[in-house]
Amino acid sequence: MPPGEAPDVLEEARTLVRRARRVVVLTGAGISAESGVPTFRGSDGLWRSYRAEDLATPEAFARDPELVWAWYLWRRKVIGACAPNAGHVALARFALARAGTAVVVTQNVDGLHHQAALMAAGDADPGPAIPLEIHGALHRDRCSGCRRVTPGVPASIDEDGAGLPRCDACGDLLRPDVVWFGEPLDTALLERAFAAARDADVCLVVGTSALVHPAASIPLATLGSGGHLIEINPEPTPLSGRAHATLRGASAANLPELLRDAG
Ligand code: OAD
Repeated sequence: MPPGEAPDVLEEARTLVRRARRVVVLTGAGISAESGVPTFRGSDGLWRSYRAEDLATPEAFARDPELVWAWYLWRRKVIGACAPNAGHVALARFALARAGTAVVVTQNVDGLHHQAALMAAGDADPGPAIPLEIHGALHRDRCSGCRRVTPGVPASIDEDGAGLPRCDACGDLLRPDVVWFGEPLDTALLERAFAAARDADVCLVVGTSALVHPAASIPLATLGSGGHLIEINPEPTPLSGRAHATLRGASAANLPELLRDAG
């Protein structure tokens, strides 16, 4: 929280979380900022001279799979060097403590919530803290033919594309298991996210610009059923005006404060 912000905003947010029987959490790229993962729309997200919107599409993959794979392999390398931060860990501990009554939904494909869940659970079941990854996961591959999902292969791409990774089962091209622009989201996963949001008394929205739908509509489902919205973001978003409490700051600092003793 920036200096000068009324401390009772944090207290108010804490009370909402403590009293909530069910909580849904929607996260975006901002929660991984302190882990060193570039935000999707940040100026540090550049790769060569391309825009993400020109590479993360089925058309780009059909036109030039080597280029798209080269970009994803670069992203896997960048993200492979990142670790969950205090925000991911606080959230994972909270979800474990609230077993079954807190659901984490993420737009991030970086896998850091997943890693934090495993870290926080230790020998226990990480299940309650495993997020619904509605935009997929960078560290997995999916066959573009038979759709089989497999762990991400370390692929080396030759200039003639000879090194493109292929499915062991059907021989078709593998692609990263992420949702590209223009592709539909997994309906079943999305329905689980909306059901959790409708059932929640509190929706915690963390580090998302809330510009991309349907993800940005998830908090509206909580509002629609009479629940409260808490936002953590250093910048205002289209949802800010509807938030009952807003923590204007970085999530790595604010989430542990908010969720302390809330499990
Ligand atoms: P964006 O990059 O659009 O927004 C990141 C948000 O994080 C902004 O609102 C920042 O103000 C905020 N932020 C920055 N640093 C932060 C910090 N330390 N703590 C908390 N918040 C911080 O990322 P998303 O909203 O996740 O979809 O983008 C949503 C989707 O847009 C992505 O999943 C991607 C893209 O289209 C697909 O790839 C399908």
